[in-house]
Amino acid sequence: MSFEITIEKTQNSRIGQFDPENIGFGKIFTDHMFLAQWNGSEWTNARIVPYGPLSLSPATSAIHYGQSIFEGMKAFAHKKTGQPLLFRPRENWKRLNRSAERMVMPVVPEDLFMDGLKKLIELDAAWVPQTEGGSLYIRPYMFATDDFIGVKPSETYMFAIFCCPVGPYYTKALKIKVEEEFSRAAPGGVGFTKCAGNYGASMYPTMRAQQEGYDQVLWTDPITHTLVEETGTTNLFAVFHNEVITPKLGNTLLAGITRDSVIQGLRELGHSVIERELSVAELKDRLAAGELKEIFITGTAATLIRIQGFGHASTYYEVLEKGDTQVSDSIKSWLDGIRHGETEDVFGWNEPV
Ligand SMILES: Cc1ncc(COP(=O)(O)O)c(C=O)c1O
Repeated sequence: MSFEITIEKTQNSRIGQFDPENIGFGKIFTDHMFLAQWNGSEWTNARIVPYGPLSLSPATSAIHYGQSIFEGMKAFAHKKTGQPLLFRPRENWKRLNRSAERMVMPVVPEDLFMDGLKKLIELDAAWVPQTEGGSLYIRPYMFATDDFIGVKPSETYMFAIFCCPVGPYYTKALKIKVEEEFSRAAPGGVGFTKCAGNYGASMYPTMRAQQEGYDQVLWTDPITHTLVEETGTTNLFAVFHNEVITPKLGNTLLAGITRDSVIQGLRELGHSVIERELSVAELKDRLAAGELKEIFITGTAATLIRIQGFGHASTYYEVLEKGDTQVSDSIKSWLDGIRHGETEDVFGWNEPV
């Protein structure tokens, strides 16, 4: 099935106001956005229009009952040609639909997602930063649009995509706090989805961690608070002498696309990567024994960031100072190379626009 997408181009491009040397994160939006509506039985009115406000009823059900999901993905400029390369966009499409299913929302057909995305990027290609560390962050999302008060799945939805040129999300190694009081997700809950509520619920514990001098929370399992899960918007890897460990997936943490790419990349580079339970006690013991070389976190927005150290039960454990970043250095440059078309795309991850 193929969708007809109408295009209304902006008459007032803002590209002239865009300074690629000074981008920041999440504050500048490109000229256009993609919209489509679910009318209760099919996707309709697929269109690209100038980026701008949406008009919504005060009773819009997403605002009250939380049927709201999103994705985060990126396009990178090819180092030589400048052509936009979408990084594994179909993985984001699949994950969006896993979220949709759990939240009783309609699935988005692959061609609606991909055609809307590619047409939008084609139109706003000049916004893809060519600068070192720059990329185009892409935000596909869906929310319930019924104007109705009452807890039930909405009949109508909006699926939309907009884009922001971005620089690095973090510019330094992070200090993270092992969270033992609050939980991000529970077994049987929605931790494996990118539903908006997961992020709203994380803000209070994150604020508390920041007040204690940390940059981020390291979530632990919600039952015992002894097993490491993920941070606010990233997955975690711990590098030991001859193996790299990352917490195994379950329904309380997000299956990061960067996580999967890093696992495949590390194996390609000859490292042993194991997905298994990783306890805070193991991190502490093996750090003390000199076996923990480094900890790094991965995510689309954050890319790959090193962990300076972690706090647990009011004690701070420094990791980076004595650490060795050889593994994170090599996987970071391997992944950056693929994303910018410099290294052979052995897994066929890039989709040029
Ligand atoms: C809770 C959470 N964990 C992990 C990630 C990393 O996922 P990805 O690598 O697909 O960006 C994200 C970002 O989407 C996230 O929000």
